[in-house]
Amino acid sequence: MRIVAWDELAARGRVEVGLLDWSDGDPPTWAERLAALRSDLRYRTYRPLFAVDRGRVVGRVGALDLKFRSDDGDATVLGICDVVTAPTELGRGIAHRLLDEVHRRNHPRVRGYFLWTRRSWGAHRLYERMGYRDVYSPEVLVRRLPARRAPGRPAPLRLRAARRADHALLEQLLARSTLGRVGILPRPAGSFETRFRLGSRRPHDYQILERRGKPIGYLWARRDERQVMCEEIVVAERSDQPRCLEELERWAAGRLLAVGTTSFVRDQADRFRARGYLRLPGSHRVLMFRGLRPDDPGELRRVRRIFRDPRLSAHEGDRF
Ligand SMILES: CC(C)(COP(=O)(O)OP(=O)(O)OC[C@H]1O[C@@H](n2cnc3c(N)ncnc32)[C@H](O)[C@@H]1OP(=O)(O)O)[C@@H](O)C(=O)NCCC(=O)NCCS
Repeated sequence: MRIVAWDELAARGRVEVGLLDWSDGDPPTWAERLAALRSDLRYRTYRPLFAVDRGRVVGRVGALDLKFRSDDGDATVLGICDVVTAPTELGRGIAHRLLDEVHRRNHPRVRGYFLWTRRSWGAHRLYERMGYRDVYSPEVLVRRLPARRAPGRPAPLRLRAARRADHALLEQLLARSTLGRVGILPRPAGSFETRFRLGSRRPHDYQILERRGKPIGYLWARRDERQVMCEEIVVAERSDQPRCLEELERWAAGRLLAVGTTSFVRDQADRFRARGYLRLPGSHRVLMFRGLRPDDPGELRRVRRIFRDPRLSAHEGDRF
């Protein structure tokens, strides 16, 4: 078995990668689109590797550089993603071999490796055996909101659906909200624009929060007649957070409001509790970490501490 990069794959191999993507529920051109985006700021460092056995592509893994901010400053870490083995080749050690190769090629350039998975997946066991440990699982909240109250004094805040051209504004608001914060920060430049272009996010699923026409934050939230699911609440100034929650509730009135995978829920934990939200302290999604020396418990402790820190900034859009 050989491990090769995208550029080393022949035309047929690239189509076989599409078959792998498709077997895992992704569009068959996913890898191709990402490879084409390597000139893009966000995906400039995206380096997928492929396992080729007897001329066939049988597995893949993706990896990209991310920044990790702690009191020690900004370190480069690797975000591992897109781990897939052909369903006919499971249990042969292909995913293990691909991950070993990612570690080998990046050691000791990066401070450690992060990946997202679910505790209930077989992959979780594989990662644990390779030295990865759980460091963070985003909490989730729900509340059924009463129907809208009669409007009183006109609120100085308003939400408006974002447009594609708002990508730079969204990026600025996020950057302002992360000042003095820790976590997997800053998000790679150009990430909103890239996601709009890739189609993995739609501009109108973002609501920009304005005070008298001046943007002060945004929500990533989808609303229908019954529910609102909000997975990213970003407010540039922390003092505006309570007003943002009020505005979100006004927007979600009469529906089930689900909020999660955003560190806003920790920042405003007391307020959510007082307003009767039901809460689970984690979800099935879990972020795992492996240090350069997986047998060094000190590094794992330091990383876990960052994810418990009240200054943590972590949102759905930080997932890689
Ligand atoms: C997860 C996945 C990549 C593993 O690929 P693989 O090449 O079969 O894995 P390896 O052979 O290198 O490793 C096998 C080990 O992983 C674990 N494992 C893998 N799949 C498992 C499953 N379905 N159930 C339980 N354990 C599993 C086992 O611990 C196994 O160890 P063992 O050899 O002692 O039995 C593959 O199942 C897959 O492509 N799944 C669909 C996509 C996916 O879920 N990717 C992970 C996203 S985070």
